[in-house]
Amino acid sequence: MKTKILVTGALGQIGTELVMLLRKIYGDDQVVASDLVKKDIPQVVEAGPFAVLDVTDARAMAELVEREQIQTVYHLAAILSAIGENQPQLAWQVNMGGLFNALEVAREKKLALFTPSSIACFGPSTPPDQTPQDTIQRPNTVYGVTKVAGELLCDYYHERFGVDTRGVRLPGLISHETLPGGGTTDYAVHIYYEAIKQNRYTSFIAEGTKMDMMYMSDALKAFVDLMEADPSKLVHRNAFNIAAMSVAPEDIAASIRKFQPDFVLDYDVDPVRQAIAESWPNSLDDSAAREEWNWQADYDLDRMTETMLEALRKKL
Ligand code: NAD
Ligand code: SER
Repeated sequence: MKTKILVTGALGQIGTELVMLLRKIYGDDQVVASDLVKKDIPQVVEAGPFAVLDVTDARAMAELVEREQIQTVYHLAAILSAIGENQPQLAWQVNMGGLFNALEVAREKKLALFTPSSIACFGPSTPPDQTPQDTIQRPNTVYGVTKVAGELLCDYYHERFGVDTRGVRLPGLISHETLPGGGTTDYAVHIYYEAIKQNRYTSFIAEGTKMDMMYMSDALKAFVDLMEADPSKLVHRNAFNIAAMSVAPEDIAASIRKFQPDFVLDYDVDPVRQAIAESWPNSLDDSAAREEWNWQADYDLDRMTETMLEALRKKL
């Protein structure tokens, strides 16, 4: 991979940890972190180069790429599913406008571009169990619509202009460094924080609602491995299903009880996020990623639970 890197949306749940990992692998000065505003996250904004960048501003993005001699972009800036349903116009503007600007600068400057898609690119008519790599994609959220359009646009820029675009369909990500930014799967992070703080959690997602989830370090490994993969082996490029575990709230609670036997889970279901969750698959078939670039998750539910509880006990 060409290693002068720009990360957009770098102060979000994924970006903070991705920047730290990329700097460890490629060197602090090689990774420029950027976000809409500078936040007090010293491990990112002070440990290497940082720039304020609104991804909907095409000229500012092109100037930053030129100034920093960027070769590869990890484009993370986006509005997630629950916030997107509240502000669909903003979701379209940021998710599609930002991606279009990133693709255009990648075309003009011959950059490599990584963009994550999501389990949200599927909808109620998609086969819900072991959802195939290539299948029906008719999402009914604005976030999901931007993810399908994004996958197609990235394919188009690769086929039409030869841009080295790559990406994965991420499950809900679980991590302890930075809180999630307004998605439907956020409950699966909050449950661990509340397990440490109060030994109980009230879930806004209903019992029995399965969704794919993944521990953050597995997702970051996928980002780096796919960008380092031999392009001649990639049949798909921009929308690899990747999977680690398919869980409902009660599965996470049962896993937490292996370490905290008195943990209590109850429910106060949010109809908006519940409807979104029900429109997404229960589990994905990730065989294409396994075959094309040797993808494999390291963390199952119990290993993730043990790691999350230990880290949050120290942090909180
Ligand atoms: P997040 O909400 O935590 O972070 C997104 C970042 O984008 C924020 O720091 C925000 O300030 C920034 N941003 C918003 N508007 C911007 C703009 N106009 N210009 C520049 N920056 C802007 O999100 P995340 O969880 O880190 O997600 C990153 C990517 O991964 C997104 O594309 C998201 O759809 C995808 N994804 C995330 C998950 C997950 O569980 N976290 C799952 C599937 C896909
Ligand atoms: N975690 C994301 C969300 O819930 C999935 O794309 O929006």
